[in-house]
Amino acid sequence: MTQSSRGIRSFRIRVSVFYKKNHRTFPWRATRNAYKIFISEIMLQQTHVDRVRKKYPQFLKEFPSFFSLASASPRHVLASWNGLGYNRRALNLKAASEMIVNEYGGHLPRDRGALEALPGVGVGTSGSLMAFVYNEPVVFIETNIRRVFLYHFFRDADRAIADREIMPLVEKTLDIDNPREWYYALMDYGSWLGKTIVENPNKKSALYRKQGAFHGSRRELRGRILKYALSHGGYIRDIWAFSRAIKLPERKIREVYAIMAKEGFFPRSKKRR
Ligand code: ADE
Repeated sequence: MTQSSRGIRSFRIRVSVFYKKNHRTFPWRATRNAYKIFISEIMLQQTHVDRVRKKYPQFLKEFPSFFSLASASPRHVLASWNGLGYNRRALNLKAASEMIVNEYGGHLPRDRGALEALPGVGVGTSGSLMAFVYNEPVVFIETNIRRVFLYHFFRDADRAIADREIMPLVEKTLDIDNPREWYYALMDYGSWLGKTIVENPNKKSALYRKQGAFHGSRRELRGRILKYALSHGGYIRDIWAFSRAIKLPERKIREVYAIMAKEGFFPRSKKRR
């Protein structure tokens, strides 16, 4: 889709006017500390801002630097992550901190490729980190940004739109003098559109998936297993007893438990070699 420069200009004005009046304030926008911004971007990947806002200060108090997170036990990090969901992120965060300490002396790299080599950092997060930590004019898309572009430039499309089609518009409209603020504005506008527009514009995205029910899901079971393990020494000694307690088949629990063990959720048994 080609856009006239007038269309681009009016889009930029619309987003800027919205932002002037309606910008949100968050603690992770009031800092330039790379560690603090890194934590917020990982938390915000899959958790709603209201929940992150509550947890964020507690987590930073517990782990104030890449060094403290790198030297913490996985169990301690998982316990502090409690309530944010998608708990693999906590393990990735610890592993990423170890890399940042060991390979970069505790400094977050200023390079998208190096950022994407960190566990838990994909193309979206490498972009948001470059923009928010370093104010670099990179191009990236996340859910609120995607909603803005789908709403403004693809409203009449009757097919799935891939991010690859949105990317050139993100690039064309980018404020290269102040990318950090511009991306804040896009996110705030996209969040507002999400609450305001009845038919979610993101349904047009090729990546759109309706989130399945949580109750009865594997994600729910993973959460229950982790909660039980954390309150029983970090792992489940007697899976049979646990399966009786939560009234789910032992076979299913063993299967999920084994996957989680492989992912590093439980300390390795000292007996095994
Ligand atoms: N501000 C900075 N990063 C953000 C994000 N990922 N979501 C919402 N607001 C933000």
